[in-house]
Amino acid sequence: MSSSALNGLLIGAGHFASIQLEAWQSVNGGSIGGIFSLDLEEAEKLARRYGIRAYASWDEAIERLKPDFIDICTPPDSHYAYAKLAADLGLPILCQKPIAPTMEESEALVAYCAARHVPLMINENWRWQGWYREMKRMIGVGMLGIVYHVYFAMRPGDGWGDAPYSAQPYFRRMNPFLIYETGIHWIDTFRFLLGDIHSVYSQVRTINPAIAGEDLAVVHFNFKSGAIGIYDANRTSYMEQERCDTYGYMTMEGTEGKLRLDENGRIRYTPRNGTESEHVYPIPAGWKGGGAIGAQQHFIDGLTRGEPFESSGEEYMKTVRVVYACYESAAKQRIVTIP
Ligand SMILES: NC(=O)c1ccc[n+]([C@@H]2O[C@H](COP(=O)([O-])OP(=O)(O)OC[C@H]3O[C@@H](n4cnc5c(N)ncnc54)[C@H](O)[C@@H]3O)[C@@H](O)[C@H]2O)c1
Repeated sequence: MSSSALNGLLIGAGHFASIQLEAWQSVNGGSIGGIFSLDLEEAEKLARRYGIRAYASWDEAIERLKPDFIDICTPPDSHYAYAKLAADLGLPILCQKPIAPTMEESEALVAYCAARHVPLMINENWRWQGWYREMKRMIGVGMLGIVYHVYFAMRPGDGWGDAPYSAQPYFRRMNPFLIYETGIHWIDTFRFLLGDIHSVYSQVRTINPAIAGEDLAVVHFNFKSGAIGIYDANRTSYMEQERCDTYGYMTMEGTEGKLRLDENGRIRYTPRNGTESEHVYPIPAGWKGGGAIGAQQHFIDGLTRGEPFESSGEEYMKTVRVVYACYESAAKQRIVTIP
């Protein structure tokens, strides 16, 4: 890496911070020089593993590291506070999803950074998974024609029993849970693939009584393009393989062809009047088909080239508004148009 590489401060040292740190190893032009978390021991452990510094407080981290950007990887209830601290110093921000615990706080965080002209990218890495990049390319070159239907069956299979979600136990207390925490990734990915969403109809259930929020959701999306999407999700069905790479399988159908995505990121394609065959493409290395590396590289590229982020605060609010429309639809049991 060149000496002019941007030097970041990572906040949070939990489950996803370690995935992000691993991904930062493969990013060009930027890296993490230090880490700060409420739990100093956790931060020190990651710092040792990645040869970076751990700090006991925000002030110490800012003073000693003098970071060029802030990478927020804490739970959503602390995102706004750190975004404000960073924005007040004029430091660019990469902030994990969900932006904040409510829509109002999410809007406020985005507005705070915008008012100070501080670059803000929401760290939405799902759309950067290699298979979705490839699908976008396939749509772009016309292999599917006009896409009129997309379906995703999400079945990570990790949400059953008295102690579900061992990798992220805080899921048990989250309410709302499934659409707010996990479904948001598909809402954003569907928007990436097929454009903006006009309206939704949604149903939610809690299957595992051991958790506070919903763990099943079926959402029907009407895209502005006229296409229809279904996100058919639960985390309770038994799966022989838990938390497979894609978290499930997908179909996409268009006037000129259709495709299927399997649990390992393989795509099978059928042209109209043809036969199905594997659509071979290079699946990028790294967590979930290079998703974390892709998103973090996009953040650094945006900063160094002055280019807009695909998931800037303002852009990502379009995804967030769909999340809350899903809950409104589930509560009122009617179609809700996105504001
Ligand atoms: N993009 C993805 O695919 C993906 C996957 C998992 C988690 N996430 C997101 O990443 C974020 C973190 O999730 P996680 O699974 O790592 O959670 P976690 O509970 O495993 O880790 C959270 C970390 O933040 C620290 N922390 C908590 N409050 C803090 C505060 N006020 N100040 C400083 N440190 C604080 C904790 O000590 C811990 O180190 C969440 O927003 C979550 O939604 C994203």
